[in-house]
Formats: sequence, structure tokens, C-alpha cells
Amino acid sequence: MNDTKPKVFSGIQPSGSKTLGNYSGGFRQYAQTQETHEAFFCIVDLHSISVDYDPGELRRATLDLAAMFFATGLDAERATVFCQSHVTAHAEAAWLLSSVTSYGQLSRMTQFKDKSEGRDVVSAALFTYPVLMAGDILLYQTDLVPIGDDQRQHLELSRDIAERFNHRFGETFRVPEGKFPEIGGRIMDLQEPQNKMSTTLSSEQGAVYIVDSPDAIMKKFKSAVTDSEREVRYDPQEKPGVSNLLEIMSVATGEPIEALERRFENAGYGDFKVAVGESVVALLNPIRERYEALRGDERELQRLLAVGAEKARRASAPTLEMMYERMGFARSDAGPFFGAARPKGL
Ligand code: TYM
Repeated sequence: MNDTKPKVFSGIQPSGSKTLGNYSGGFRQYAQTQETHEAFFCIVDLHSISVDYDPGELRRATLDLAAMFFATGLDAERATVFCQSHVTAHAEAAWLLSSVTSYGQLSRMTQFKDKSEGRDVVSAALFTYPVLMAGDILLYQTDLVPIGDDQRQHLELSRDIAERFNHRFGETFRVPEGKFPEIGGRIMDLQEPQNKMSTTLSSEQGAVYIVDSPDAIMKKFKSAVTDSEREVRYDPQEKPGVSNLLEIMSVATGEPIEALERRFENAGYGDFKVAVGESVVALLNPIRERYEALRGDERELQRLLAVGAEKARRASAPTLEMMYERMGFARSDAGPFFGAARPKGL
């Protein structure tokens, strides 16, 4: 392992089917960074229990996500792909960091407000979720966090937590930077283009799933909401539906938005929507095929996650130990991996 490379960390929740939004803000950015960075990508299963969930489904979704990481181009040799619950340092770090996180700041998280709205029972885990995320990032002395726009506020909080800890207990954490896509940082719901395309909140027709069949994808784009003006023009305020479709096509083909506007200048919305759908089918089809092949071999996925967990334990243990020591816990002389946190073979 080359310690001089900058570090990248990101995570995705194993809940529901992953969407084109997750591809655009998440997966797409990950594979690009594994060449230039020491890369850690985490299936954040501990985050998924913060809302109602089905235990059988969590197990399935965890393996789905492992297969999706590899299908979208991550290489288990170069990047560390692992599952959050396999590395106990994450849960420990969250508790330690909660002592330097203010209740007021957590109450201002918009994702907490959105996800708790209208629920009878709001779990404490949903409220403290951003602290767990801060721990994920800070444990690896991360330089860069590739994420979509909806995680911006959580990343800001992670930076604040790092600074507060460093100030209170001495320099311990690197303060991470976010990496947001210029185009496609916030893919919107095809039926309700004023709302984000979401794994949990979007309707079946409003969200495009990475594993959708070509037919399903075409159907969804043909019925995507546009407007009555009949002009293919990028203007997210006035024309949210059309602008979202332009962003999606730009993500799928790599062409700039202006070039697409020119190409569809004289086209009707019908032809435009078919072209967007076809570009997404061309993007997702090979990913779905690789995904299906990889998903069939659960033993291999489990093996790769075990390899990743071992690497992640080694990489995170020194920071966790430093946190305990700086905070004044009486650690034994047993070395850096005290008690149950000691990784195998160390
Ligand atoms: P999650 O699982 O909701 O989403 C995973 C990634 O997908 C991005 N994303 C989108 N990007 C563009 N348009 C959309 N409509 C869209 N929907 C989702 C998200 O921004 C994210 O990058 N809290 C995080 C997971 C997490 C994490 C971390 C991320 C836990 N620990 C540490 C980075 C670093 C979440 O729930 O993402």
C-alpha cells in the first residue's frame, strides 16, 4: 500500500434498489478515483437501520451493493470495498464523536427533517446518523469524499466535528473536502422533477434503477414529466423536467448540456425523451449484465468483503486508538489494538 497517495472515502446505504441518481452522484465518481487515491468504499449497513427495515432484506441488499460496486468498475485489488458493520471502529468512533457534536446542529440537518416528517416513531439513530457518517470519513484520514449534492450538509458537519475534536483534544483528524459532480450532482424524480430521485421516497415510475431492463427504462423516460412549452432548453427553475433530462443525457453520454440543447433545438419532446432513454440504456446495460454475473456468486462476494474488512480494520485502527488516547481513556500497554478491536494477525 502506498501511504503517500491521498485518501478517498465514500459510502452507500444498502437499502432498496440503487438508482440512476446513486450512479451519477456516487458510483460514477468512485471508479475514477481508485487510480489516483488510496480508496475506501463502504456499504453503510449500520446507517440502514435508522429507518424501518426488514432484516432479511438488509442481508440481500448488502450483497446486491457489493456486486454493484464491482459491476461499476471498482477493483478489489486496488480499492478497499467493505461493509461498515464488519469494522467495529465505525460504531466506536460514532460514540466518541457524539461528545463533540451539538444537538442544535444535528436538529438542523435537512435530511433528518425530510426523513422524520410524518413518521409516528423517529429513531434516535436517524437523528445521530450524521455522526456515524463523520466517523466513517474521519477514521481513514480522508482527503476527498465523492458524494452527491444531498450529502453536502452532512459533509460540512463532518468537517466541523473534525475541527472541534482537533481543537479540543489536539490535532487528530485531517479535515476532508467534498467532491461533487459538476453535472448530475442532483438527479431529479422523472414524475416529480421538483424532488430528488430517491431510493426510498420516489415512486416506481419516478426512479430509474440501475438494474432496470431496457424496456422498463424506455417506458419511464417516455412518460417523464416535461412541460407545455415544447422547447428543449436548460433552465432548472423554469423547466425542471426538461433540465433534468438534459443532465441525465449529459451524464450518460459525456456530452456538454449546450451541445445537447443545440442537437434537440427543433425536436419535439417525444423524440427527445426517446433519445435520453436510449442513452441511459446504453450506459446501464453493460453494468446490469456485469452485476447479474457477479451477484450470482455470493461466496465470492462474501470473500471479497472479508478481504476488504481486514484492510479497513488495519487502516482505521491507528486513528481510533489515537482518539481514545487523546480523549483520556486509560488504555492498556497491549499496544495500538486494545481489546476486541484488535484485528486478526496483529
Ligand atoms: P445514499 O446511500 O443515500 O446515496 C449514495 C450516494 O448517492 C448520491 N445520491 C445522488 N446523487 C445524485 N442525484 C441523486 N438523486 C442522488 N441520490 C443519492 C448521494 O449523494 C451519495 O453520494 N449518508 C450517505 C451514505 C454515507 C456516506 C458516508 C457517504 C454514510 N457514510 C461517508 C460518504 C461518506 C447516504 O445515505 O447516501
